[in-house]
Amino acid sequence: MKKKFYITTPIYYINDVPHVGHAYTTVAADVLSRYYKSKDEDVFFLTGVDEHGAKIAEAAKKAGVEPKAFADSLVPRFQEAWKNLNINYSEFFRTTNPKHEEIVQDLILELKDKGFVEKKKYTGVYCVACEKFLLPDELVDGCCPDHGTKPEEHSEENYFFLLSKFGDKLSKAIEAGDYEILPESRKNEVIGKIKNGLEDVSISREKVEWGILFPGDESQTIYVWIDALINYWSAQKVFNQDNIWPADIHLMAKDILWFHAIIWPAMLLALDLPLPKKVFAHGFFTIGGQKMSKTRGNVLDPNTLVEKFGADAVRYSLLREFPFGEDGDISEEKIANRYQSELSNGLGNLVQRTISMINKYEIRISKSETNSKSETRKISKLIEDLKFDQALQEIAGEITKLNQYIEENKPWELAPKGSLGWTKTDQTKLAEVLSHVHSGLVDITPQIAPFMPETAEKMKKQLETLEPDPLFPRI
Ligand code: MSP
Repeated sequence: MKKKFYITTPIYYINDVPHVGHAYTTVAADVLSRYYKSKDEDVFFLTGVDEHGAKIAEAAKKAGVEPKAFADSLVPRFQEAWKNLNINYSEFFRTTNPKHEEIVQDLILELKDKGFVEKKKYTGVYCVACEKFLLPDELVDGCCPDHGTKPEEHSEENYFFLLSKFGDKLSKAIEAGDYEILPESRKNEVIGKIKNGLEDVSISREKVEWGILFPGDESQTIYVWIDALINYWSAQKVFNQDNIWPADIHLMAKDILWFHAIIWPAMLLALDLPLPKKVFAHGFFTIGGQKMSKTRGNVLDPNTLVEKFGADAVRYSLLREFPFGEDGDISEEKIANRYQSELSNGLGNLVQRTISMINKYEIRISKSETNSKSETRKISKLIEDLKFDQALQEIAGEITKLNQYIEENKPWELAPKGSLGWTKTDQTKLAEVLSHVHSGLVDITPQIAPFMPETAEKMKKQLETLEPDPLFPRI
């Protein structure tokens, strides 16, 4: 039987079209998914959208339509963006799926039955863009640190999940490695916060109508985050996937690590369900140092980027620019530079000139030794550790080396010189040189495949047929 690998992205809020920040996580998930598929694992890759809550209701109201109709109109925009980026997800989750709604209610009832739910009064400030209550010390000049907007005063009676009871259990689970929080620095942050004590969390909303009804008290709806987190679990029933739980990895940015690393595992512990194996929080794309977000209005549209540079170059640039766990600035100019230097002048040019010379000098290619096995192992390990930037750096290094090898060996000097003809030694040497480069490229092809699937396909074909076709034409 194949080994299963269950990977998730967050389900994105459907208040607007996707931007490059959403694309970043989704591309990373797709790279992992393609990588594990290439290792013959049974991959289930889940992405989707988060449709309930005040944020969506407000956006729908602005558009003058019902929330569900609003969400329906945006779903294709997400699916189209993922198609443009060549994202090969297994299923697309929608939280308005009736099966999911039922499962969410059942799990809440179970939490209640087990004594982990209590009704309490709560007063605090709420950021609708985050869909969460903010603590006073989190505010920057009275505003949400991520969105720069002023949160709303809320005072209501809600049902609470008794998160405070789970601090010790969570710490133990983290220490025992039952589930891993990555990167390490984030794990330490989470452990620190648990030590400071966990507060119970509200799991219902009194004044939000657009949501799943709270079982046993229909005057409230289920807090959108609780509804959303359960998608990872309910996907099993929604998509008839037996035995995929626990998830092998939940991917997200650091903004929502708390929900994934604390609240979600605590709920699972309360329900006696297994914990996810890994939770990885990457950094933010920033524009001029500020988080890119729809609320701030400083977003890049992934579709426009794909139109300009092609899916593979965008996938490559997004993951190449900075380490996956850290923040980094992104811009069209940076993508253009990578395209030009590493893809067009680097890989594209290498493939093109190698094949042209093989054809021009009528060389018969023989299999040549390269150090690809250790290189491939190194790259595989980097991908498994989510060090995508380093994996791509390795690959870029191999390409540079092959280009240098050509410069050093100057195949054109070995070519027949006019009427002087061709010496046997030159002919043999030329075949050797070009075979070495050709083999190197054959080895690189599967290494780049998870990142640039289309390019890998094209390379494979060109290296077989020896019919060159520019991989990254000049823009
Ligand atoms: N709906 C919740 C998630 C529920 S999951 C059970 C949500 N949605 S969101 O639309 O705000 O998406 C947040 C996620 O989008 C981040 O965690 C990250 O994966 C991605 N990103 C959004 N903006 C981003 C950047 N500027 N930079 C990097 N990733 C970004 O939270």
